[in-house]
Amino acid sequence: LRILFVSSEAHPLIKTGGLADVSGSLPAALRDQGEEVRLLIPGYPSVMKKLQDQTKVLELQDLPYVGRASLVLGKMPDTGVEVLAIDCPSLYQRAGNPYLDTTGRDWEDNPVRFGVLSMIAARLGCSDSPVQDWIPDIVQCNDWQTGLTPAYMQFHIRSQPDVRRARCVFGIHNLAFQGCFGQEWVARLGLPPDSYQMQGLEYYGQMSFLKAGVFYADALVTVSPTYAREIQTPEFGFGMQGLLAERGSEIRGILNGIDVDEWNPAADLHLAQAYDQNTLPKKQAVKLALQQQQGLQAATQRPLLGVVSRLTHQKGLDMLLPIADALITEQQCQLVLLGGGEAALEQGFRALAQRHPGSVSVSIGYNEALSHQIMAGADIFVMPSRFEPCGLNQMYGMRYGTPPVVNRTGGLADSIIDTDPASLQAQTATGFVMDAADTTELYNTLRRAINYFHDHATWQKIQQNGMRRELGWKQSAEEYINVYQSIR
Ligand code: ADP
Ligand code: GLC
Repeated sequence: LRILFVSSEAHPLIKTGGLADVSGSLPAALRDQGEEVRLLIPGYPSVMKKLQDQTKVLELQDLPYVGRASLVLGKMPDTGVEVLAIDCPSLYQRAGNPYLDTTGRDWEDNPVRFGVLSMIAARLGCSDSPVQDWIPDIVQCNDWQTGLTPAYMQFHIRSQPDVRRARCVFGIHNLAFQGCFGQEWVARLGLPPDSYQMQGLEYYGQMSFLKAGVFYADALVTVSPTYAREIQTPEFGFGMQGLLAERGSEIRGILNGIDVDEWNPAADLHLAQAYDQNTLPKKQAVKLALQQQQGLQAATQRPLLGVVSRLTHQKGLDMLLPIADALITEQQCQLVLLGGGEAALEQGFRALAQRHPGSVSVSIGYNEALSHQIMAGADIFVMPSRFEPCGLNQMYGMRYGTPPVVNRTGGLADSIIDTDPASLQAQTATGFVMDAADTTELYNTLRRAINYFHDHATWQKIQQNGMRRELGWKQSAEEYINVYQSIR
């Protein structure tokens, strides 16, 4: 199969969250299964800088609102996966991140920036593509930024009966981001007026990129089996539940894998000390290095809680703030947090750090190296998300012998097995699972984890259960290929 994988971010070219991890590693896994894969991505500054072996394949004319634009073929650093970058300075050459300007506001022209991404994906996916030597069988879209792709493809062939199109799979990584814009964008983006209706891309009086993806795609995939069920309910559907339930039996939940080379405690260059499941005492050296680097008291016996996260309502870390003082003073915990997002949460955690020097370290911002060091150096990883389509950090936690405390939702429910006498006996216990998303339950679950932490022999078994787990992409990549074969 020829697969065009379309994404607004992909590690190591550009990353704001888990979508980048998936878009960096899943295409390589599909390639390793024998498929031909190309990634299509906007040419942000870091993409144009890091992309290897670049050659221009095409000048693009007649794009709306766009000056010079071209398509550049290159290779992903590390994996060598082929990448098509859209080199369009007027849209993508800016400071800030893919979605927000430097003050944290959405780019006003996001509908154009991602409309153009979708439009180009659609052109490349039709038999009259300007890149005739590489016409895909499958276009794999991801999240709202790519949602117009299947719409453009369908409308294009509607007016050109001789043209054929690839099958389009829409991957939902987070339903909370819906890409909603005013109705005027329908015409501005060259979409036919009749697409703006309930049986189309209209969504509560706006046009929605996400709805377009859900409505027009040939198949729907999301990133865990539990999330596939949850999004068909009002609690998790963000208004999309009705439409999703209509396609309910078609929605495939495929749990994300992780890049087991990038996330490997035995060969992680960010760490002061390598270790694996047979040399777990060496993990102490990583903890001590982290404590020292972050200005925490060097204390191996104190439970060190780790957080690496976007600081938003989704991630539930507001539930940690009211109990953090008690965890530190009564349970002797330390906390090391890396993240950024909502101002109130950033302030809350900064204030906590000020109240507890030597016990709490809070780093606001994005820091690749520190994220690895926390994953390895902490004892317990804290991830009480209210909803979590898949979640990757809990899997990194398992792989680094840092058992996670998670809420029972989405991919967290599908990847972490709660610790109790039965799961310990069966050697399947890998973490601690909350039964509800509230502060008391988080506190009780952390207490449970801390009690086990002080029981060294049992703790080591929980660590090893997680470290032994098969977390790579092989099985999930095969499931994606099954979906592709089924709609070909
Ligand atoms: P989401 O995509 O919803 O944010 P995931 O758990 O799927 O959640 O993925 C988050 C990814 O982003 C992980 O690779 C995590 O390590 C990384 N990450 C999140 N915040 C930061 C940060 N402040 N610095 C570095 N990496 C971060
Ligand atoms: C989204 C989700 C996260 C998931 C990631 C990759 O960012 O919030 O749960 O792991 O996409 O699929």
